[in-house]
Amino acid sequence: MTTRAEALARLSQQPDTVQPGLVYVVEAFRPEDAEAVCDLFYRVYQDAYPVDMYYIPDAVRGAVAEGALYPVVARLAGGEVIGFAALYRSSPPFAGLLEFGLGMVHPAYRGSLILFHLTTELMDLMNSLPSVEAVYGEAVCDTIITQHSSALFGFREVALELELMPGGGSGRISCLAVFRNIRDRRRTLHAPAFCAGELGKLLAWAELDREVVALGEESLAAQATRLEVQTFAHAGVMRGNVYSLSGDGAAAMRQAEAAAAEQGCRVFQWFLNLAEPSAAAGAWPLARNGYRLGGLMPRWFDDDALLMQKLLDPPAVERINLYSDRAREIQAMTLAEPAL
Ligand SMILES: CC(C)(COP(=O)(O)OP(=O)(O)OC[C@H]1O[C@@H](n2cnc3c(N)ncnc32)[C@H](O)[C@@H]1OP(=O)(O)O)[C@@H](O)C(=O)NCCC(=O)NCCS
Repeated sequence: MTTRAEALARLSQQPDTVQPGLVYVVEAFRPEDAEAVCDLFYRVYQDAYPVDMYYIPDAVRGAVAEGALYPVVARLAGGEVIGFAALYRSSPPFAGLLEFGLGMVHPAYRGSLILFHLTTELMDLMNSLPSVEAVYGEAVCDTIITQHSSALFGFREVALELELMPGGGSGRISCLAVFRNIRDRRRTLHAPAFCAGELGKLLAWAELDREVVALGEESLAAQATRLEVQTFAHAGVMRGNVYSLSGDGAAAMRQAEAAAAEQGCRVFQWFLNLAEPSAAAGAWPLARNGYRLGGLMPRWFDDDALLMQKLLDPPAVERINLYSDRAREIQAMTLAEPAL
């Protein structure tokens, strides 16, 4: 199997054959596009894209073949790919919730309608896939472009992931989480009392049909603690999923956080399953340990998740650009001290 270093060495040897001003078509990805897709990632990100797969054509073909990646491309007659966007499996444990993103345009074709055409094609693809029940995106907040376009395509603001991604030299980049439901049913969720008002607003904005049960701190603990933790050391981020918490749950979360901090993480996110009262009640020990509300991540577990987040460094709020009033209201929620 080709390594990232080998793939980058090959890409760096290849001249950019893209000529500006040519006619393009926007279509679903074909296996023979994989080489040109990797070329595009290289033209847009040089060697900086964190996921190896996008530099390795066979890996891209493999991800598409196994249903982990559903791309659309903008292609020139010569086969060059000048635009890309995709649905793909990422962090959520629920396989029916895909991420919508990876939008990019070759520098010679910026400032055109290509991103709009790619998004339209991807929406059609999304609606044609029976296994996709919901989609979400993480719109970067160094610009409002993708926040604006996702609003026009029916996505709703649900969370603000402060300082999520390393930026190119100018500090970290926050992401606005946006969500679109496709197929769903009525669900019960347990709202911790101290953030029930905020959750109610987010549920209404996302037009989710939920029976909300108020949750007090004294909620019963589960039989066992079940956590899943991923650390993205290169990005400085820990992401944990909380399925259930027993009496040792708060200590287990603190241990996971300490281990991730040792690996260099400075941003910590916990996704609490709101269908399970013991998991939802984990919001209290987290809030006492410096965490604040991040927002709602609908369908994260199939059932919805509450996002709690903690930053070791103060967020650079002045660099967060938001398109909508709702996004600004979510930002205020994420900066407020929890009223325990
Ligand atoms: C995002 C992208 C697809 C938009 O392409 P596009 O629709 O052709 O739009 P443009 O690139 O011309 O950008 C429009 C304006 O936004 C600005 N802009 C684009 N991305 C920006 C960013 N990350 N931060 C700040 N400004 C940005 C551009 O400078 C441009 O400003 P101008 O009109 O004053 O010149 C394209 O810029 C791109 O491929 N970027 C790299 C990949 C990327 O960051 N994708 C988003 C991942 S969520």
